[in-house]
Amino acid sequence: MIEEPKINRNLALELLRVTEAGALAAAPLQGRGNKEAADRRAVEAIRESLTSVDMRGTVVIGEGEKDEAPMLYFGESIGNGLEPEVDVAIDPIEGTSLTASGLPGAISVVALSERGTMFTTHVHYMQKLVVGRKARGVIDLDMPAEWNLKRIAKAEGLPVQELTVVVLDRDRNKEIIGEIRQVGARIKLISAGDVAGALEAALETRFGIHCMMGSGGATEGVLASCAIKTIGGDMQAKLYFRDDKERELAVKEGHKPDKILCIDDLCSGKDVFFAATGITTGELLKGVRYEDVYAYTQSMVLRSASGTMRIVDAYHPIDKLRVKGLLPEQVRVR
Ligand code: FBP
Repeated sequence: MIEEPKINRNLALELLRVTEAGALAAAPLQGRGNKEAADRRAVEAIRESLTSVDMRGTVVIGEGEKDEAPMLYFGESIGNGLEPEVDVAIDPIEGTSLTASGLPGAISVVALSERGTMFTTHVHYMQKLVVGRKARGVIDLDMPAEWNLKRIAKAEGLPVQELTVVVLDRDRNKEIIGEIRQVGARIKLISAGDVAGALEAALETRFGIHCMMGSGGATEGVLASCAIKTIGGDMQAKLYFRDDKERELAVKEGHKPDKILCIDDLCSGKDVFFAATGITTGELLKGVRYEDVYAYTQSMVLRSASGTMRIVDAYHPIDKLRVKGLLPEQVRVR
């Protein structure tokens, strides 16, 4: 007999409403140079829309600790208190600097899985290696970039020069960028937003990206792992320490500091949900646009139990958004 997933599938659409609210709230501040204000608006909108979702959720990835974040802090209970009991990972704006500068690729993201199944840490960064379905099982983060790229190329049936690797443009990633260049693969450097980068790599046939390498935020790594799990790509990660204190922190948290974290270590859930809505237009998703009497959003909703990926275009009446406070009057809309 097939075991019925414990989480109601309708939750996927509930989550979609949550990230739509986050994106719609942040969008009026696109390019206005104020990332804190944009983040505040998105957090408030997401918090508000989560209160009515049927779940007993615990934030395991959010805005930080209670003292520094009044909402969506680590350990906060969210949802209406009914079953199921779940871990919730939220990034109201993944790419705050992108939003503040009006640059491509900012998204609003939520993921959810059974309680106690998501990897948690206060260590800031993680090395990441992400590939699509075809290269699943051929990667090893402990091996050099050249070794991995040659195996990915073989799995993809491409010469290594035709692979495209997405990497966050940071000084700490200079070495790996050099190694990739040495092998001759193409690189797409991104200034921020490596959750979207990881998804593009996992969905390689749609975006022409075959791999993501280098280090980025640890919490973003866990968020991405939830999506990659549902898509059927592969990911390995390893905590990246800026100093000995962070290494000690990892040990205190009960982690083996140098262990390779496979996709099931990052998210061991069997019924994982992921939703993302575009804030600024990027390759993964279109951003919020105002068209006549509607605000347009594009979202992605994924569910591991069914393996379904939905891309949802939605048109939200602007007058209703105003009533909900998602579009302030002073933002002129043509
Ligand atoms: P924000 O949403 O906080 O702006 O972070 C975006 C991001 O670029 C992530 O996508 C990435 O994982 C992380 O920041 C990288 O951190 P850093 O900018 O410190 O290298």
